[in-house]
Amino acid sequence: MKILLLFILYAIALSASLARAGFRSRVKASPRISQKRPTRLLIVGATGGTGRQLVAQALERGYTVTALVRNPAKLKIEHSQLTVIQGDVLEYDSVEAAMRGQEAVLCALGHKRYFYPTRILSEGTQNILRAMETHGVQRLVCETSLGIGNSAGRMGLYYTLFVIPLILPFYFWDKARQEKLIAASEVEWVIVRPGVLTNRAKRGTYRHGPNVGNFIWTVNISRSDVAEFMLDQVTNDTYLRTATGVC
Ligand SMILES: NC(=O)c1ccc[n+]([C@@H]2O[C@H](COP(=O)([O-])OP(=O)(O)OC[C@H]3O[C@@H](n4cnc5c(N)ncnc54)[C@H](OP(=O)(O)O)[C@@H]3O)[C@@H](O)[C@H]2O)c1
Repeated sequence: MKILLLFILYAIALSASLARAGFRSRVKASPRISQKRPTRLLIVGATGGTGRQLVAQALERGYTVTALVRNPAKLKIEHSQLTVIQGDVLEYDSVEAAMRGQEAVLCALGHKRYFYPTRILSEGTQNILRAMETHGVQRLVCETSLGIGNSAGRMGLYYTLFVIPLILPFYFWDKARQEKLIAASEVEWVIVRPGVLTNRAKRGTYRHGPNVGNFIWTVNISRSDVAEFMLDQVTNDTYLRTATGVC
């Protein structure tokens, strides 16, 4: 009983510190369409679940796409408007090479090193931001997660009290660092925080905004819907320089 109580206190304390560590929106978003129309996109994390959806949907929308991937064989998409660059987001030179000539960046970086302290997300994002500033690339749309900053607790009780404190504390700390770096940057950025990801087909309907999510029930969304929403943020200023949940 004592151990359970201690664990619940730890989970609440972790959630509170993730709330402080991540980005906290202060401004209310109002619907705005951007005047800019980028045509060339760099997609980081393109071989992942969300990343593959980003590549496929960006090509469908007519963008010229560059995918930065560690293993090109994993991408399994061929298209005349798609360039695949082999590289590692942790190696600045490969990020810079991929950044040349781009107009916007979509980042769906993730990994499975749940049980070790890691800085893959924050260091990778630092390299992306540095290369964007070097090449004058303005817009970054980055996928993080509900549960950070002012969305702490919004993944639902199961994630807040069990999954995040027990399995994902290092991962979420790094995500909080990643958000802080983005928020402190000079680029035009949008942080997209999804609920639990599924591989279901695209529905095209989802809720978004700083207050989505649920403090009790687990909320989810398909990776294809997240990709659609992220691509919308390339030409939409509604959530510019803010973080929005989507589920
Ligand atoms: N799973 C959930 O329920 C959930 C909920 C909310 C938010 N999220 C977050 O959403 C994001 C996307 O999740 P996902 O499941 O769609 O993605 P994923 O399948 O985990 O894919 C992650 C991508 O990042 C790439 N990557 C990792 N390290 C890299 C490196 N050093 N250099 C270049 N690329 C690298 C991976 O490449 P390789 O293919 O080479 O490994 C892969 O393409 C993640 O940040 C995740 O934490 C997930």
